[in-house]
Amino acid sequence: MVKATVIGAAGGIGQPLSLLLKQSTLITDLALYDVVNAPGVAADISHINTPAVVNGYLPKDDGLAKALKNADIVVIPAGVPRKPGMTRDDLFNINAGIVRDIAVGIAEHSPKAFVLVISNPVNSTVPIVAEVLKKKGVFDPKRLFGVTTLDIVRASTFISEAAGKPTESLKYKIPVIGGHSGVTIVPLISQSQPSIDVSQEKIEQLTNRIQFGGDEVVKAKDGAGSATLSMAYAGARFAIAVLEAASGKKLETTEQAYVHLSADSNGAKEVTSVIGNDTPYFSVPLELGPNGVEKILPLGKVNEYEQGLIKKAVADLGGNISKGVAFIESSK
Ligand code: NAI
Repeated sequence: MVKATVIGAAGGIGQPLSLLLKQSTLITDLALYDVVNAPGVAADISHINTPAVVNGYLPKDDGLAKALKNADIVVIPAGVPRKPGMTRDDLFNINAGIVRDIAVGIAEHSPKAFVLVISNPVNSTVPIVAEVLKKKGVFDPKRLFGVTTLDIVRASTFISEAAGKPTESLKYKIPVIGGHSGVTIVPLISQSQPSIDVSQEKIEQLTNRIQFGGDEVVKAKDGAGSATLSMAYAGARFAIAVLEAASGKKLETTEQAYVHLSADSNGAKEVTSVIGNDTPYFSVPLELGPNGVEKILPLGKVNEYEQGLIKKAVADLGGNISKGVAFIESSK
């Protein structure tokens, strides 16, 4: 029996993400929570003949507590998205409080759940959740993930296109490490499998496109929000990987997510030998298992250009992380 809860389930990401999770036969109980429209989304999705029993919850009648009660996995796409001209950091003032309150609910009602944070700015919202869980004495770094899968999905698509093999994008595996905004997103194109033979200039263009791919969607949607459908695909892919690993299945692909490096202090040693000790959170390749992070995997060989990207990412992440931590310290 596996209970999955989506918080922000009526939103642009929440609805298709809930749909994709309903397709998974691993889930038997799908709880959809939002401040609006969740019962309607739940009623709609509940007619699909897959195993998960679907329920929708609103804030009234203790809806958040009921949605979270005994959840095995909680996926959080709640909050506001970007409009043209905004950075993810501009969302902090609204989304920080939303994510904090959800984290309090998790600490009280599903402290053992895997928690997948999609709400931006991920670089800061993950530390917010961690600080709340720490205050409540239930923080387990192996179970908290900032979802950066969309960056990995974009890297596969863009790089297979650049290699002239757009129909083979599923084959292309490119580690993307760091954080989830602008220059904190660090694709390790030199490690692309299969490898790609392009000029350094092209690598720099591709790196920039992966870092700022989200802006293409924000611009094209012209005020109607940011990536929702591709994000739902990526979020569902990562959530299902976490659940499959929890069920004991050996995964064929390596996922990356933004985690606290204490999730595996041994594995973290190799990572810090490359990135230094200035950031406690980083998106890293992970081996997932029954308890979440089983191992933080080595970053592999990083070339000089990528080393420069890492340096910039670490410099930005410091401020993003302390902003999240300070927000909880100053919250009552
Ligand atoms: P949206 O506005 O379409 O949906 C957000 C939903 O959250 C709405 O249904 C809203 O009612 C709900 N919500 C607001 N306050 C809530 C609360 N206190 N509790 C529960 N639900 C609440 O936004 P969209 O496009 O779905 O984006 C959601 C978040 O995901 C944004 O912060 C966006 O920046 C982020 N995002 C993250 C990505 C990633 O790669 N991690 C990629 C794309 C977006």
